[in-house]
Amino acid sequence: MTLIAFHDGNDNSSIGDWHNCALKFDKEMSFVPLTNKNADQAEIALVWHPPKGRLAELKRLKLICSLGQGVDHLWKDLNLPLSIPIIRLVDPNMSRVLSQWVLAVLLDFLRDGPFYRSKREKREFCKLSERDTFGMKVAVYGIGAIGSAVANNLEKLEFRVTGWAQTKKPKLLFRQETGTGAFQRLIATNFVHICLLPLTTSTKKLFTKEIFMKMPKGAYFINAGRGEQIDEAGLLDAVQTGHLSGAALDVFCEEPLPNAHPFWNEQKISIWPHVAAQTNPETVIEQIMESIYAIKSGRIPKNVVDPIRQY
Ligand code: GLV
Repeated sequence: MTLIAFHDGNDNSSIGDWHNCALKFDKEMSFVPLTNKNADQAEIALVWHPPKGRLAELKRLKLICSLGQGVDHLWKDLNLPLSIPIIRLVDPNMSRVLSQWVLAVLLDFLRDGPFYRSKREKREFCKLSERDTFGMKVAVYGIGAIGSAVANNLEKLEFRVTGWAQTKKPKLLFRQETGTGAFQRLIATNFVHICLLPLTTSTKKLFTKEIFMKMPKGAYFINAGRGEQIDEAGLLDAVQTGHLSGAALDVFCEEPLPNAHPFWNEQKISIWPHVAAQTNPETVIEQIMESIYAIKSGRIPKNVVDPIRQY
């Protein structure tokens, strides 16, 4: 039997679904909430925002699996047992739905959805002239599995896409740039900016107020990376002064977004409750099972995270 310590970062109400999915693959999989004493014996941890210090108490632990694509939630635990391999989920289904979210919010903005919805309330049947989007310059920051799916889809719609990453990625079909100089250049020359970066010490607060103000006037910003990558007050200012046309955000420094947060009052900032791509047990269970089998047979599982690089 394999004992899996589970924590969904919430009320653990999803534990039954995860267990049922795992049982379809392997009748020997048993789930226990991480916070339960019995989890002390677990060999596998399947977790999202685990309570700090708890994973270090699991003395038989062989694998930590993030319950999402990001692993930044794990680094918040200063006692995280770093000698244990950590894997993140890489799921084509999640990449696809996330890229659909990006397209939905971008096209809604470009086709003036907020304007027409506001006119509906007053039953005003009036038109704005259409934006020319052919060859519109779009920068995608972060071009791993998700960013590449986003960039490829945008290219199909004839946007002029450039992907940016800290290091060069092989075999990409779209333009790519790397490094700090290129980052500054892309910021200054692209009309749409899409952040899909992992949260690491080098991407924290990457989008400062100065960076937002360097974007061309009227630019649009989309964030499905992490809230901590942006200076929220700086973004708000850039939108409220009319420098940016607006933003669509799926991630925030504090989640749930607090009631009193000024973003709620700014109509030009579209707020999404971290739903751009939700972890789907049905589509990711196979890779989790494969990772467990790999660890148990002494092989290195796929998508192991480098704690130094932090992703
Ligand atoms: C969601 O934010 C994830 O990391 O999967």
